[in-house]
Amino acid sequence: MTKKVLINEVGLRDGLQIQQKFVPTEGKLELGQALIDAGVRAFEAVSFVSPKAVPQMSTAGEVWAGLPMKDEIYYSALVLNEKGYDRAMDSGAKVVSMALASTNKMNEANIRLDLESASAMFVKLIKRAKDDGVETRGYVSTAMGCPYEGDVPVETVVELTKLMLDAGADKISIADTIGSAHPEQCKRIFATVVEKWGADIFGAHLHDTRALALPNAWAALEEGIREFDSSIGGLGGCPFAPGAKGNVATEDLVFMLEQSGYETGIDVGGLLRAVGVAERLVGLKLGGRITEWWLSQERKKAKAAAEAA
Ligand code: COA
Ligand code: ZN
Repeated sequence: MTKKVLINEVGLRDGLQIQQKFVPTEGKLELGQALIDAGVRAFEAVSFVSPKAVPQMSTAGEVWAGLPMKDEIYYSALVLNEKGYDRAMDSGAKVVSMALASTNKMNEANIRLDLESASAMFVKLIKRAKDDGVETRGYVSTAMGCPYEGDVPVETVVELTKLMLDAGADKISIADTIGSAHPEQCKRIFATVVEKWGADIFGAHLHDTRALALPNAWAALEEGIREFDSSIGGLGGCPFAPGAKGNVATEDLVFMLEQSGYETGIDVGGLLRAVGVAERLVGLKLGGRITEWWLSQERKKAKAAAEAA
């Protein structure tokens, strides 16, 4: 099985959407560039949602227009209704992601539709994307626990996955939106969907609320998953899902994978420089668990080099 793992950096969207401090377009682009410099080649870069609902994303069109568009970089944009889809098309997006939550209450909190109406709306949008030749990433969000309704049966995750695949979705990402999963649960969910559809079309989106995002990622990896969302410095959270903390930190995930012989093409030192950029932009101390240790090693190396010179 391949050792290559795709890291889909979601800091610019999931990471920033909850931040109080507004990050202007040039700041978002500076962070994007720092991540590209570190080797990141896949991004969920913006969401085209209501600027009243998520002010941080109000400049999505401008950000999208400023991104360095290169064949080797994969960008997706999150859309949650028809208006968002239209805006994404106007911006020239070639990949859209859509988040269908697993429960009535989460869909209602997020997009003011119950599960049935949300399902119908996303099916329509996925079909439209198919006709438009646009790639779709269907997210089954709150798949491992809902802040309003609690446990989510695996059967629901299977059902919503099937619904989006039947409509023509190209990829499905299973999301632990509030970080309530544990590795055994994560393993069970991925084992179930992988057995039905194979691992290649799936990705994992994991939050680190209870410090289990890395072991959860490992559990998914063992089931053959080779695509992960993560966020620089562990930024993130959903304003409509109480308790959701940041995504798994990109630097920690990349470090774990590289140490274990997987290939991400991403440089941890470069990611830590991007953490510095993100900290300056949001005015908060960020960073995964690897930061302190990594910097202490760098200091040691610099000291040894100075002594040898
Ligand atoms: N982009 C820009 N504006 C949008 C929009 C979009 N995708 N969707 C709706 N709007 C605007 C409408 O034009 C309207 O503006 P107005 O008040 O100036 O007339 C206003 O938002 C309300 O529109 P309506 O269709 O009644 O939507 P709503 O109030 O039922 O809200 C959503 C539904 C989905 C638009 C809104 O809740 C939303 O964007 N939520 C974001 C959820 C999110 O980002 N979650 C985190 C990621 S999963
Ligand atoms: Zn998320």
